[in-house]
Amino acid sequence: MKGLILSGGKGTRLRPLTFTRAKQLIPIANKPVLFRVIEAIRDAGIDEVGIVIGDTGDEIRQAVGAGSQWGVNITYIPQSAPLGLAHAVKISQEFLGDDRFVMFLGDNVIQGGISPLISQFADSDWNSQIVLTQVDEPEHYGVAELDEQQQIVRLVEKPRVPPSNLALVGIYMFDHHIFEAVNAIQPSWRGELEITDAIQWLVDHGRRVFPYIHNGWWIDTGKSSDMLAANDRVLAEICYEVNGYVDRDSKIDHLVTVEAGAEIINSVVRGPTIIGEGCRIVNSYVGPFTSIHNQTVIENSEIEHSIVLDNSHIRDVPSRIVDSIIGREVEVTVSPIKPKAYKMTLGDNSKVGLL
Ligand code: TTP
Repeated sequence: MKGLILSGGKGTRLRPLTFTRAKQLIPIANKPVLFRVIEAIRDAGIDEVGIVIGDTGDEIRQAVGAGSQWGVNITYIPQSAPLGLAHAVKISQEFLGDDRFVMFLGDNVIQGGISPLISQFADSDWNSQIVLTQVDEPEHYGVAELDEQQQIVRLVEKPRVPPSNLALVGIYMFDHHIFEAVNAIQPSWRGELEITDAIQWLVDHGRRVFPYIHNGWWIDTGKSSDMLAANDRVLAEICYEVNGYVDRDSKIDHLVTVEAGAEIINSVVRGPTIIGEGCRIVNSYVGPFTSIHNQTVIENSEIEHSIVLDNSHIRDVPSRIVDSIIGREVEVTVSPIKPKAYKMTLGDNSKVGLL
């Protein structure tokens, strides 16, 4: 089998972070979501991986390279514009050939990896397998209707009256018949070739499409609240180790990772939390559910349930920062310059919640 990761798109819902960075490279528990996707595919025994890239392709190529750090071979497949998930399959036909493949959205995080579902599909004669999970509000998702044999009957996008509570997870498995489907369907009202339409086409033309019901958690990191939720989930499951320096006046609990070169001075860090390489946490309180990425400094401040990216500086902030995502090279400080007021330089689409 081959792997196909979709890493194009615009990431508009994650602006302003995605003005300057591919959303798939934003770290969750200090590791980019895309790296987690590559690992999941590699761990399922697949070593030929295609990555569909768009405007942020150069950055993705630079971060991922040829794939040797994961022991896989990466082929990049440029997409001229984000014309839909089925369009991404269409342009990948040359790479995929006649092989069965798994398509994984590069911004999705799933508990427990994909080995069980890959082996089920690889050993079957089904034309497609889609991953479903039970959700509380199916009207916000693509939803599947199943028959008594548990075969897919119908897929509906954001149905007003959902036929089930089984939502489509961003992982799909196909054989070469999917190319007939993606070449036959027309763009939807939003101008995209929809993968749900392509799967429905398979069903309508007598192809065998089976569901795999995923019982763990799954998060599509489309919005900032999803990023924080994914960060919570992953932090709660990683192995913790302290490779940095923690001074005697600091208190860190056993669910805290301190990466090499980081220093915790006179501070309290509650887990699950990860403090990245070269960070300095001084006279501060950090965590729980917080990821501080490399070379960031937090001084005389408190932060909880947040993600801070690399090379940022948070100093002397009088109130606790919570539920926040702070980008790279950001400064959050108290200004000594009069007038005593909030002074901000915020990019387009920034959000600030003041007391
Ligand atoms: P989406 O989250 O549906 O789209 P997006 O990334 O453009 O985000 P937004 O809606 O906030 O603007 O995409 C899911 C994944 O698939 C994501 O990793 C981007 C990728 N993708 C492609 O590679 N090509 C495409 O044509 C589309 C629509 C998405």
